[in-house]
Amino acid sequence: MVVDLEKRDVVTIEDLSNGEIEAVFSLADEMSQTMAEQSSVCQGKIMASLFFEPSTRTRLSFEAAMNRLGGRVISVMEIGQTSLAKGESIADMARVVGSYADIIVIRHPWEGAARVVADYADVPVINAGDGGHEHPTQTLCDLYTIKKERKTLEGLKIALWGDLKYGRTVHSLAYALARFGATMHFRPRRGLEMPEHVMRKLTTEYAGRLERYNAVKDVEKDGLFPLDAVYVTPSGPHQLANIPAVGIQMELKTDVDAIYVTRLQKERLEPAGEAGESERSYPVVDKKLLREKGFRETIVMHPLPRVDELAYEMDADPRSMYFKQAARGVPIRMALMSLLLGARKVELPESKGPSFAHHRDYPVYDRDTGVRCRNRNCVSRQGTEARYMKHKFHIVASEPLTLRCIYCEHEIHPRYIASSKWHQGIVEKKRYYSADSFMLARIRPENLIIFDSEAAAEAQGFKPGKRGKAP
Ligand code: NCD
Repeated sequence: MVVDLEKRDVVTIEDLSNGEIEAVFSLADEMSQTMAEQSSVCQGKIMASLFFEPSTRTRLSFEAAMNRLGGRVISVMEIGQTSLAKGESIADMARVVGSYADIIVIRHPWEGAARVVADYADVPVINAGDGGHEHPTQTLCDLYTIKKERKTLEGLKIALWGDLKYGRTVHSLAYALARFGATMHFRPRRGLEMPEHVMRKLTTEYAGRLERYNAVKDVEKDGLFPLDAVYVTPSGPHQLANIPAVGIQMELKTDVDAIYVTRLQKERLEPAGEAGESERSYPVVDKKLLREKGFRETIVMHPLPRVDELAYEMDADPRSMYFKQAARGVPIRMALMSLLLGARKVELPESKGPSFAHHRDYPVYDRDTGVRCRNRNCVSRQGTEARYMKHKFHIVASEPLTLRCIYCEHEIHPRYIASSKWHQGIVEKKRYYSADSFMLARIRPENLIIFDSEAAAEAQGFKPGKRGKAP
């Protein structure tokens, strides 16, 4: 089977199937063994490197990768250096940069910014981190490292530590691990738990089971670390489901394959509230922890940069993988870019073919009825983008009605609904209903009108419908 990724974008890790991820790894293996022979693979190609947030590893490894492939790099590193500072929209910038370069790599503080660039640029776009949303190429480096060290990606047990709320690397990684059948232990700093929309996706789209354990005192008493939740893939052990309290003890006593540590994402904390929490204890990985039962064979991973959550004493420990993870960024990004540019294709055995087709065809909601994404950091909420951008959502569930922003993937639960069919332009028939009434089931997605509030419905000429009675 030939894997061809020409002209594709990588905005989230879900843009690549399991088979395509394996293809990137196989090409990265080949390229790292024959580095000197790669210098004309992307000759004549230009990569635009747009880094509007601090970066060392990601930017330099992308740039090193393109240089090693024989291509060239144009770059900006600050919004202040670009016309974005003059009030230009991301869409306009994307169109223009797409006409100068063959591939765009973007890092931006707004969640969903990379999606907008991909929508407007005519060349492949790689998300190198968009706010607290995703960082798919870091996940490729992480999975590649796990695969090299553990010899498989299937059925592993991985603990995710630290800032799981704003750490974009753990969001992409959790989706990928779920697809490869991993069990995950979530061990967040208090208040920085995995966001609900990530948890929901893990359980609904990846069909795994989530066991929440935030208050299990026995676990702490046992000398083991307190957990927020455990994610078990559909193929995982059944004991957990049947007898949770016993199941969790058994789960913790068996070995963890990897601990993935992240730093506190200080720059993303809510200005009020979360900053004060930062003094609270943050999980720290050190030699003492790695002596505990269950961790003796555990590899230690970190996307870097580290601050205080990972002791320097771990650097000499053979289980520490973080510098290897960073070093592998170059062959991984060489492989990915040469595939997206169509400069290489990869032959894979059939068994490694695309085993995962994520894209669910959720209905889209993009009517202008005042429904907005609530995430203040979402690209759709920014003044420069509001001029052209429609608020767009996937309707992902009906009980309760749940809309997922197509840019940042945060979810909202609007409270009122109506149908465009019933009133057919006749003002007297314009009625709205509560979103949790049975009326929702009677309206086809393409006719659905959604409001955030009664005032919004009334402002558009709708009157309250009699509860439960169809017009
Ligand atoms: C991460 C990032 O930027 O999200 N770093 C990286 O790309 N290796 C992690 C972080 O900044 O904490």
